[in-house]
Amino acid sequence: MQFATRLNFLQANVFADMDRAKAKAKAAGCDVIDLSLGSSDLPAEAHVLAAIAKSLSDPSTHGYLLFHGTQAFRQAAASWYTHKFGVAIDPETEVLPLIGSQEGTAHLPLAVLNPGDFALLLDPGYPSHAGGVYLASGQIYPMPLRAENGFLPIFEEIPESVLAQSKMMVLSYPHNPTTAIAPLSFFKSAVSFCQKYNLVLVHDFPYADLYFGQAPVPSILQADPEKSVSIEFFTLSKSYNMGGFRVGYAIGNADLIRALRQVKAAVDFNQYKGILNGAIAALTGSQTGVKTVVETFRRRRDVFVGALDRVGWQVPTPQAALYVWAKLPDRWANHSIQFSTKLVEATGVAVSPGAGFGKHGEGYVRFALVHDPEILEKAVDRIAQFL
Ligand SMILES: Cc1ncc(COP(=O)(O)O)c(C=O)c1O
Repeated sequence: MQFATRLNFLQANVFADMDRAKAKAKAAGCDVIDLSLGSSDLPAEAHVLAAIAKSLSDPSTHGYLLFHGTQAFRQAAASWYTHKFGVAIDPETEVLPLIGSQEGTAHLPLAVLNPGDFALLLDPGYPSHAGGVYLASGQIYPMPLRAENGFLPIFEEIPESVLAQSKMMVLSYPHNPTTAIAPLSFFKSAVSFCQKYNLVLVHDFPYADLYFGQAPVPSILQADPEKSVSIEFFTLSKSYNMGGFRVGYAIGNADLIRALRQVKAAVDFNQYKGILNGAIAALTGSQTGVKTVVETFRRRRDVFVGALDRVGWQVPTPQAALYVWAKLPDRWANHSIQFSTKLVEATGVAVSPGAGFGKHGEGYVRFALVHDPEILEKAVDRIAQFL
């Protein structure tokens, strides 16, 4: 059988190698501590589950959900956004429910790119941003993120020849994997740049609530309140521990929302109405659960960074997201894949190699803080022995 060449790009995934190494460690009887996936171990809240349970026994939720989800969901998302970020949103034309935000960011390039067009992506960055561009037969221009620049891209470095063929830029702050935060001034410069070069500006924003400082992290639409070029992607996976439920939404430029809806109309019939009802309960109900999530990850961050420090591995204290982005000790400097596979085989501690997020992720590993503090300390003990 012959398959499309685009599959070749999708197959080159170091996370599959890590999965194999994890499976090998498990098969050898090792007690694996998995810090390689950013999937929250915390439960969804009772009032969210109650709303879904109630919907399950209501037959009117059992059929296809056509068009763009329910009006109640679009209104809940629009009100949540305006309350948080102060920009007015039209729930009819500027909101689109998604089956997780990854689904939306991966489908959007099909609506924006013609074959061969460039998308400007962060390097390191979230792998499905690249996956979506490959599915649309686009080309990727990786914008390098360097520690000395706060892991923000430098737009002036992008060659004019690439810009002439570019259709979109994808940003995502707080950033996975580096945990960097972008200030509103940076978003304003991104908006001006995208307006100048006629680029769609995509902002993937799953960690909108997961910051540890006083000041909230900005939304791209605060830098583009007219929504001239921008679309932003949100998820219930992180703030509300609903990763497995697969629910998110896009908010932004009405033409982009319509175009993404057209692509999705060929692919899916929307998320199940009961899950949208759970999401409405999450977005409109008490937000104390979100505070608990933030405090839980803050405590884990402090324990983990402190434990690493005690064993001689100094890393900056992350100000957002649920990860620690750690520069590898000199001996492993450019071998993040080797480090990660050997670490899991020898100790059962699974981490994500920086190289899996792009060429400029090499030299780092990402720890996802998805276990309780005692387990995180146990992981650091094992890492110390390995080192
Ligand atoms: C940058 C980024 N985008 C998207 C996702 C996935 O979100 P969802 O569960 O809504 O698909 C993640 C999950 O880790 C992420 O880090």
